[in-house]
Amino acid sequence: MGRLRLRLLLLLAAVAAAAVFAGGAPVYRADYLVDGNQLVDMQYHMGPVVSGSPTNLYLIWYGRWDPAAQSVLRDFLSSLSSPSPFPAVSDWWARTPRLYADQTGANVTGNLAVAGEHSDSGYSHGASLRRIDMQSVIRSAVYAYPDPLPLDPYSGVYLVLTSPDVQVEQFCRAVCGFHYFTFASVVGVTVPYAWVGNSASQCPGKCAFPFAAPDYGGGGGGGGGEVLRPPNGDAGVDGMVIVLGHELAEMATNPLVNAWYAGDTPTAPTEIADLCLGVYGDGGGAGGLVGNVSRDAAGASYNVNGVNGRRFMVQWLWNPVRGACYGPNSAAAA
Ligand SMILES: *[C@@H]1O[C@H](CO)[C@@H](O)[C@H](O)[C@H]1NC(C)=O
Ligand SMILES: *[C@@H]1O[C@H](CO)[C@@H](O)[C@H](O)[C@H]1NC(C)=O
Repeated sequence: MGRLRLRLLLLLAAVAAAAVFAGGAPVYRADYLVDGNQLVDMQYHMGPVVSGSPTNLYLIWYGRWDPAAQSVLRDFLSSLSSPSPFPAVSDWWARTPRLYADQTGANVTGNLAVAGEHSDSGYSHGASLRRIDMQSVIRSAVYAYPDPLPLDPYSGVYLVLTSPDVQVEQFCRAVCGFHYFTFASVVGVTVPYAWVGNSASQCPGKCAFPFAAPDYGGGGGGGGGEVLRPPNGDAGVDGMVIVLGHELAEMATNPLVNAWYAGDTPTAPTEIADLCLGVYGDGGGAGGLVGNVSRDAAGASYNVNGVNGRRFMVQWLWNPVRGACYGPNSAAAA
């Protein structure tokens, strides 16, 4: 018990130190990894969860995007609410994020649909973005002429996806993605959003692990650090799927940073995916091991199935009923 508590405190301290942005997906470091059985005080703070049915996802492709990469990410998003062979992306969503509800009794939605896309191939705010610029990127997309994205204050969430050449404040140093909400003063309404970067050329060892060799910051990282083959043949994009899954799960359960998180401070909340960073299967976490996942005929690793015959890796999430990290590829009974 004492050791587990100590591990948890170290984890919370490490995540808080790295997540300098509320809602940030920390860069991979083996010393964050936990055994998935520690004591966690996941608490509800009275705010809403993302419950709209459907919840409309609006994608902003920032920078120069390869159509093959876009189709992997689109298929992943379409898989959240479409049935696929078990264990499916939709099972992963239904068996953990859906279990979180807010004080009105509304559960996290099981119905997410890509409702619009906008290409910002002209880098409207440059190739180096600050965190606050994400809101201006969204503003530009919803006021674009022609073809603006709808401004959807009731059931919209916005995803800013940056191409491999785009630098973002704290990208690779502390975070691989983050989620937050827009300010009415910038965008006109308050809506949840997330940003995820493609780390292929900037820091695959930090943000595309386990599809690239980990770069441990300062000695003593240790751990398994196993490098796996990406299921869609692209470490940058398959790594983005992991970070996108992490951010979507956290955004859905803590969209205004006042719903579900552990720890005492809303400026560094430890959210449902932070607690399971680096865990992809049974036995994952401790010692830097990804855990038991499947391999396809070509040797690529995956743990969930999606639409169009796709396979993906998603990290496990903190399951409030089990009190543990969990994913549908677990051998533990459903
Ligand atoms: C909604 O949340 C409640 C409370 O956590 C849970 O018991 C229930 O199973 C959830 N419903 C669905 C459809 O997941
Ligand atoms: C991982 O899978 C192997 C082979 O199916 C099994 O023997 C082992 O117990 C599994 N590990 C865990 C931690 O469940």
